[in-house]
Amino acid sequence: MSRLIVVSNRVPSPDRPPQGGLAVAVHAALRDRGGVWMGWSGNSSGDREPGPLIRREEGPITYALTDLMQRDLAEYYQGLANSVLWPLCHYRIDLTDYSRRDAAGYFRVNRFFAERLAPLVRPDDLIWIHDYHMIPLAAELRRMGLKNRIGFFMHIPWPAPDVYLTLPVGEQLLHEMTAYDLLGFQTEADVENFSLCLRRSGIARPVPGGEGLHEAGGRRFRLGHFPISIDAEGFARTARNAVRNVAMRKFRDSLEGRTLIVGVDRLDYTKGLPQRMAAYRRFLEGNPAWLGRTTYLQVTPQSRAGVAEYEALGREVAELAGNINGQLGRLDWSPVRYVNRAFSQQILAALYRMARLALVTPMRDGMNLVAKEYVAAQDPEDPGVLVLSRFAGAAAELGEGAVLVNPYDEEMIANAIARAVSMPLDERREMHGLLADVLRRYDVFDWSDDYLAQLERTGGPTG
Ligand code: G6P
Repeated sequence: MSRLIVVSNRVPSPDRPPQGGLAVAVHAALRDRGGVWMGWSGNSSGDREPGPLIRREEGPITYALTDLMQRDLAEYYQGLANSVLWPLCHYRIDLTDYSRRDAAGYFRVNRFFAERLAPLVRPDDLIWIHDYHMIPLAAELRRMGLKNRIGFFMHIPWPAPDVYLTLPVGEQLLHEMTAYDLLGFQTEADVENFSLCLRRSGIARPVPGGEGLHEAGGRRFRLGHFPISIDAEGFARTARNAVRNVAMRKFRDSLEGRTLIVGVDRLDYTKGLPQRMAAYRRFLEGNPAWLGRTTYLQVTPQSRAGVAEYEALGREVAELAGNINGQLGRLDWSPVRYVNRAFSQQILAALYRMARLALVTPMRDGMNLVAKEYVAAQDPEDPGVLVLSRFAGAAAELGEGAVLVNPYDEEMIANAIARAVSMPLDERREMHGLLADVLRRYDVFDWSDDYLAQLERTGGPTG
C-alpha cells in the first residue's frame, strides 16, 4: 500500500482524538498507510518570513505545519478563499469581494505550500489535497516535476457555470485543476456543474463512455462524487453514553419537560440562521398551543473573525434571538437559547439524542455532517425528526427519511417544525429507519477507502 500525503488548510491537533468526518477518516487512513498531514499551523508569523516547517511524529503519522505571514493570511485565507471562493461556491456572488492582490496572494501561498511539501514526498506516495484553499496545489507540484498520483476533494459545493465563471481567475483555476488525477465532489450535481464549467470554457471534454474521465490537452483525469459521512457507529455509541453524564442530566432538568429543538452551525451566512429564527417565530405564532412547550437551542460557534460579513451576521442573529425571547418569552420560559460556543462531540451527541427535531436548513451546503450526526445519535426506539434543507448536499442521500424544506421559504420551515414536533412515533421510526440505512451503507471509512481506491486506479506516473 502506498504512503499517503494529506494536505488541508486546517490540520486537527494531534493532541486530541480526531473529531468530525474528515479528521476521523483521514486519521484512520494515515494510521493504516503511514504518511504526512501537512497544512497551516493556525498561527501567524507576523510580518516575518515563517520559520522552518514544524514537524511532529506520532507513530506512523508525521504532522508538518507551517505558520503563515499576516499578509499571506489576509490575501489567501481571509481574501480569495473566504471572501471570494466561499461565497461564490455557495451562490453568493453578491458577497464576493475580489481583488487581484488577493488572487496573487492565493497563488503565492499555494506555491509556498508546494515548496514546503515537495521535499517530503517519495515517488510512489499518494497525495490527497482538500478543499478550496488549495485548488492550485497540484499544478504547483507538477511544475516542480512531481509525477505522483494527486487527488483533490472539494468539501463545499461546486456552483453552476453562470455563477462560477463570474470569477476573474475562474478559468485559470480550472486549468490548474486539470493537473489532478482524481477530482472528488460531494454530490452528482457538483460533478455535473464542474464538468459543465470545463466544457463551457473549452478547457476539457468528457471522454465518451469514460465514466467521469475527462481530457484536457492530452492529459486525462477523472471526476467522481463521494458523499462524505461520519463514523456513524462511533457517534451512536458516544451519544448513548453521553446522555447519562451529569452535565447532560442537568441540562435535561432545565428543559422542564419541554420539547427540545436543536440547531448546530458555525456562524456563517450560508447556514440560513436568520431565516431559521424567523421560521421558528412563525411556528410559535401560528401554533399558540406550543407556546411555553418548546425550547429551541441554537449552538453557533463564531468563525472567521476578521471577515466583515461574519461580524454583521453575528449581530443580526443575536438580535433576532433576543427579539423572539423579548416578544414571546414569559417569566418562566425563553423560546430560544442561543449559545456562541463550540462544544465537545460528547455534548453535541447528547444534545442531538435529546432533541425531538434538528433544524438543518442551510441556504447551500456541500454536505452538512450535523444532519448525519443527528441521525446517528438517535434512539431508534424513540427517534427524532430531521428537518433538512433541499440545498444541503446531504439531501441527495437523506431526502427520503427527512422532512425536506426550501430554506428560502419561512412558512415551509414553520410548517415542517409543526409537523415534526407532533409526528407520531410510528412515522418517526419509519423515517429514522430510512436515514439509518443510508448511514450504515456508506460511512466515513467507506468514503476515504472508496476515494483512495479510485485514486490508486487513476492516472499515475504515466498519466
Ligand atoms: C468548512 C470548510 C473547511 C473549513 C471549515 C471551518 O467546513 O469546508 O475547509 O476548515 O469550514 O472553517 P475555517 O475557516 O475556520 O477553517
